[in-house]
Amino acid sequence: MSSTIKRILFIGAGRMAQAIISGLKNQSDFQISVTNNGNDQRLNYVRDTFDVEVIESWREEIETTDVVVLAMPPEVHDSLLNELAKFIDKHLIVTVAAGIGPTYLEESLPDGTPVAWMMPNTAAQVGQSMTLYTCGKHTDSSHEELLQKMLSGIGSYEKVTEEQIHELTPITGSAPAFIYKMAEALVNNAVDSGISEQQARKLVSEMIGGAASMLKNGESPKELAEQVASPGGVTAAGLKVFDENNFESLINNAIKACHQRAEK
Ligand SMILES: NC(=O)c1ccc[n+]([C@@H]2O[C@H](COP(=O)([O-])OP(=O)(O)OC[C@H]3O[C@@H](n4cnc5c(N)ncnc54)[C@H](OP(=O)(O)O)[C@@H]3O)[C@@H](O)[C@H]2O)c1
Repeated sequence: MSSTIKRILFIGAGRMAQAIISGLKNQSDFQISVTNNGNDQRLNYVRDTFDVEVIESWREEIETTDVVVLAMPPEVHDSLLNELAKFIDKHLIVTVAAGIGPTYLEESLPDGTPVAWMMPNTAAQVGQSMTLYTCGKHTDSSHEELLQKMLSGIGSYEKVTEEQIHELTPITGSAPAFIYKMAEALVNNAVDSGISEQQARKLVSEMIGGAASMLKNGESPKELAEQVASPGGVTAAGLKVFDENNFESLINNAIKACHQRAEK
C-alpha cells in the first residue's frame, strides 16, 4: 500500500462500524465509505453523524478502495466473501466478526490476499475497547501500521495469535458481562441502603473505574486485594465467603462454558 490517503470501505454500518468510524473520522489520512444491508435510515444516520460517504453497494467502490472492513454478522461472511473474492486485488481485508479468523478469510479469498482479524469488546463504543488482533500470512508492516491506527481509535490493542484470540475472547469479550453482573448485585445492595439507583450506579461505576486504574498501575490483583483486606478485618470476612464458595472455580467454569458454546 503506497499512497498516503487510504480508502477504507466498511461493509456493515452497525454499532461496531460506528465505533471504529468514530475513532477514525478525525484522522485526515483516511477516506471512509460505508455500506450495509439496505437499512437506509441507518446509513443516513452514519453519513450525517460521521460526515462520511455512504453507498448502496460495496461494488460501487471496491476497485478504488485499499481496505475493506467487514463489520457484519459472522453468518453472512461466507456468501459475501464468495462474491468479494471475484473483485479482490491485494486489498487488505479486515473482519471484526466473532469466530472469523485469518485462516477462514484466506481460504475464502484469492491466494496472497492480506487479511486481519480484530476482536473488540462493547467498550469500543466509548473508545475503551481492549481489542485483540492478529494478521494473516500476507500482511506486511504497512498493513499492520494501518490496522493499529484503526485500533487505537477504539481503545487499547494487543497482538496475539489466531488460536489465542479464540482462547482469550471470553476474557476480553465476554468477561465485561461478568463485571456488569457483579455491578448489578452491588447496585441492588446499595439501593437497599436508601440511595437512588442513579447514586448507586455512580458509586459502583466509580469504584470499578478506580479498581481498574489501580490494576493498570502495576501491582498484581492479589497484592491489591491484600491491601484492601487487613487480616481479620471487614473485607477479609467478605473475601472468605468468596473462598468458601470457590469463586475462582466459578470464573473458570464460566470461561469454560464460553469456550464450549463457541465451539458449537
Ligand atoms: N458490538 C460489539 O461490541 C462487537 C464486539 C466484537 C465483535 N463484534 C462483531 O462485529 C460485527 C458487527 O456487530 P455489530 O454489533 O456492529 O452489529 P449490528 O449493530 O447488528 O450491525 C450489523 C451491520 O451489518 C450489516 N449487515 C448484515 N448483513 C449484511 C450483509 N449481508 N451485507 C452487508 N451488510 C450486512 C447490517 O446492515 P443494516 O444496517 O442494513 O441492517 C448492519 O449495518 C459482528 O460480527 C459482531 O460479532 C461486535
